[in-house]
Amino acid sequence: MDKPIGIFDSGVGGLTVAKAIAEALPNERIIYFGDTAHLPYGDKSKESVKLYSQRITAFLVAKGCKAIVIACNTASAHAYSDLKKFYPKLPIINVVNPTVNYCSEKYDSGKVGVIATKGTIKSRIYPRKIVKKNPNLEVPQAAAPLLVPMIEEGFFNNNISQTIINSYLSTKNFADIQALILGCTHYPLIKEEVKNYFKGSVDVIDSATVVAEFTKKLLKKEGIASKKREGKNQFLISDYTESFEETSKLFFGEKIDLREERIWD
Ligand code: DGL
Repeated sequence: MDKPIGIFDSGVGGLTVAKAIAEALPNERIIYFGDTAHLPYGDKSKESVKLYSQRITAFLVAKGCKAIVIACNTASAHAYSDLKKFYPKLPIINVVNPTVNYCSEKYDSGKVGVIATKGTIKSRIYPRKIVKKNPNLEVPQAAAPLLVPMIEEGFFNNNISQTIINSYLSTKNFADIQALILGCTHYPLIKEEVKNYFKGSVDVIDSATVVAEFTKKLLKKEGIASKKREGKNQFLISDYTESFEETSKLFFGEKIDLREERIWD
């Protein structure tokens, strides 16, 4: 049987990335791991996120994964470079770099904004990387911590979500942006609301789609793409509750079979 792709996140939000990958790469088998025992990563220290990410990657490698996708923006910001050092031969994809490449190539100059968790914003990973690739771009950013629990509770496309989104996006830093990166697993669910806030005048970039396309190209380049789908996808979480089961439907768009895997015991 062909080897699977391992995808991990702090919880079930990364299922937006898993879904985009499942759609773009229907021949690939996925093992998804959501670290619901430690959620949210956005408020955790860099050291903790690095430690969690290393343990999860070791677990996925032991499961035979041929490539790892870090679906979580915060884990991509804090843990990617260490993981690359630990596993120099393993293809490891993060959600930041493909989005950085996409933006620095698409826009010659002007402003590309970012919204993300506190951890991702504090790391300044997007401004650092985008400006390094294209010094003509400015990258204003804003942490939007309320958006994660808001979306998980199913508050989107309503008055409450509209008010919260407006309050984050109305910062004067974003007054003249041409594009906005949705730098968090959860934000694809509010993409339309964000577009509407800017009345369609700003490109809203959701990293799930960009990363799925990048993964497809990388597997081909490395010669490890599967020709035919064998076996079922697996969706594992480190702490099971019915509430995660419910939320997973929101992010994956359909019911999935979530199983608990207590890797921290
Ligand atoms: N998965 C996280 C991210 O994309 C959001 C949720 C969390 O803070 O754990 O940054």
